[in-house]
Amino acid sequence: MRKLVLAVAMIAAMPVAAQAADAEAGKTVFNKCKACHQLGKNAVGPDLKGVIGRKAGTVEGYKYSEAMLNSGLTWDAATMKEYLADPKKKVPGNKMVFAGIKDPTDEENLIAYLETQK
Ligand code: HEC
Repeated sequence: MRKLVLAVAMIAAMPVAAQAADAEAGKTVFNKCKACHQLGKNAVGPDLKGVIGRKAGTVEGYKYSEAMLNSGLTWDAATMKEYLADPKKKVPGNKMVFAGIKDPTDEENLIAYLETQK
């Protein structure tokens, strides 16, 4: 019983991260991706239009790595956050050469922006 009370108290104390997300700011963060990604067609990386909610490795005509094809991921906000923080850790052997986004606010904003790109 004590454990339950503690858990409830911890959940209540967690900040509401989603409130901070700012799609307009995320558009600027997306500049980091533009070297390789476009919205509407494949480039060095796969088309990111509509990526939120999509299964990994499923853009028609893009040649993915085996690692990405077999990742079994779906790009929801949580999965995307983990991937962008450290792409090589989330999908070992994938071919996206990107150091990762270190600032959680940048990440939140970027994901909010991508959610608007359907
Ligand atoms: C240096 C080039 C490069 C940069 C910069 C880059 N990517 Fe990628 N990205 C790739 C490549 C290449 C792949 C394909 C990976 C594979 O098949 O293993 C990829 C794959 C992805 C995927 C998986 C898409 C799918 O259809 O499954 C997502 C999501 C993604 N990138 C998001 C981003 C975001 C967001 C940024 C900016 C923060 C970014 N990438 C920056 C090259 C890049």
